[in-house]
Amino acid sequence: MAAAEYQTHEHDVLVIGAGGAGLRAAIEASAAGVRVGVVCKSLLGKAHTVMAEGGIAAALANVDDRDSWRVHFADTMRGGQYVNNWRMAQLHAQEAPARVRELEAWGALFDRTPDGRILQRNFGGHAYPRLVHVGDRTGLEMIRTLQDHGVHQGIDVHMECTVIRLLKDGERIAGALAYERERGRFRLFRAGAVILATGGVGRAYRITSNSWEYTGDGHALAYAAGADLIDMEFLQFHPTGMVWPPSVQGILVTEAVRGEGGVLRNKDGRRFMFADIPPLYKNQTADNEDEGWRYTQGDKSARRPPELLTRDHVARCIVRETKEGRGSPHGGVFLDIAWIREKLPRAEAHIKNKLPGMYHQFKQLAGVDITKEPMEVGPTTHYMMGGVRVDAETQMSTVPGLFAAGECAAGLHGANRLGGNSLSDLLVFGQRAGEFAAQFAKQHRAGPVDREEVDAAARAALAPFERRADQDGGGGPFQLQAELQDFMQDLVGIVRREEEMRRALDRIVELKRRAARTTVVGNREYNPGWHTALDLDCLLTVSEAITRAALDRKESRGAHFRDDYPKKDDAAGRVTTVIRKGSGGDMQVAREPLPEPPAELKAIIEELK
Ligand code: FUM
Repeated sequence: MAAAEYQTHEHDVLVIGAGGAGLRAAIEASAAGVRVGVVCKSLLGKAHTVMAEGGIAAALANVDDRDSWRVHFADTMRGGQYVNNWRMAQLHAQEAPARVRELEAWGALFDRTPDGRILQRNFGGHAYPRLVHVGDRTGLEMIRTLQDHGVHQGIDVHMECTVIRLLKDGERIAGALAYERERGRFRLFRAGAVILATGGVGRAYRITSNSWEYTGDGHALAYAAGADLIDMEFLQFHPTGMVWPPSVQGILVTEAVRGEGGVLRNKDGRRFMFADIPPLYKNQTADNEDEGWRYTQGDKSARRPPELLTRDHVARCIVRETKEGRGSPHGGVFLDIAWIREKLPRAEAHIKNKLPGMYHQFKQLAGVDITKEPMEVGPTTHYMMGGVRVDAETQMSTVPGLFAAGECAAGLHGANRLGGNSLSDLLVFGQRAGEFAAQFAKQHRAGPVDREEVDAAARAALAPFERRADQDGGGGPFQLQAELQDFMQDLVGIVRREEEMRRALDRIVELKRRAARTTVVGNREYNPGWHTALDLDCLLTVSEAITRAALDRKESRGAHFRDDYPKKDDAAGRVTTVIRKGSGGDMQVAREPLPEPPAELKAIIEELK
């Protein structure tokens, strides 16, 4: 099967990925007057952005006037355990309110306060009610709005197209090679600047809130193109995913349930979160049920319930309960919002109004009425804090002309992201990436692409068709992906240790060998086996990066918890872990000291600690 002719497109800015960050970037670049193309793996509008259900974090101070960008900044830094890029955390906190108002002006509908302002709700790790929301479908509203706005901007959209290679002209980015998922034909994109906005890596794990698209494509493409990746050890396990029935395991149960007063209980009915409150949050956390409830009802003198501690901590407490035999029948714990019937006269209507998506999700998928009974929940792989290293102001990676925004970029969230900071991240840094990529493209027209490199990449992509099944011996692509997901879940999951991660690394090396021999049957027209064979390359690259970075960080911090190094080590741990491709093609890990924040930001951190 020969590498066919390539359909070629030329754009000034090529955006890869059409979730919140990709769409926001495309809108900005297009408004700057350059020709923009968006490539997405799936249909336009289908993105993990919709899984940020509970809200957008922005210090509008509509519900609590003590809030400000300073508090949001300090919360983000503390949540990230102080290994965040401080400049990104500052820009994010300062610019999020304007980005939300802009979204509203473009037609986004949000829930309102009684006096008509945008309503904000509580979320884990945020000092005040900060999450702008519409029920529990905020991410969906964001995508709808950006899509509606974007379609009028003259952006070219290439749907159901997967990018398999970034192309360079010398050091500088020059375009990308992709294939159409439906017809199997190759497409060649030439561009002055490329923005990666491909989202996360959840599909490297067995239990995940991520759908099939999230195979770490942007991370792996950037790495192969010579860009630095950072913070890859920090992978977020959202504490509450569905655990039952098995077919829906991992589907997200929004943190908004806890923001609206939902509590976590073990099989004995005990609110186990009261048992372990980290020192960093001790003076901000309620120590009794009544105070926690008063907080959710807006009592400014009360402290937040322990269910609203940061996700890394809540997820570990759930794991502890299940490991020690106090879990629910299907290996999770109970999340109870129905209990508010004791407190609110019209609780049932309130729950259906605030959490309509959760009500229907549990009713239809699990036969559970959440207004009357508790849900069974457990941690689910949700979000990658690590990713492409970018410049804080411009979002340009270490490869000239290659930008990244949203989940596939790194720095803002440090060791653990606060809920709701993902949607604001997409807006703030999507806008910046679009602006600066357009600026770059105006100064640099699309360079030439190396035809031999393109042909070689296309041949490599078609190789699984060429191999004979009897030479395979390595297993089919689906089997290899399932094996990877199983051992990453078991050996590089929420609780990690050296010996297990070493075993994972051995398995990755072995899987790489087998993936290089895997075969696919059929032809190039809509062939999921072939697509999975190609995804494997990305999945293996990100899995190796996660494992190597996690082995290198010999302490516990944020989402990275090591059983063999359970303490945080501020002397050695305030570093950035950098992953880059060595000259021999091997993956290298380096540690770099974190730059100190300027005095005024240090003062904010200290004051609000
Ligand atoms: O729980 C949620 O609604 C997820 C939000 C987020 O990941 O930001």
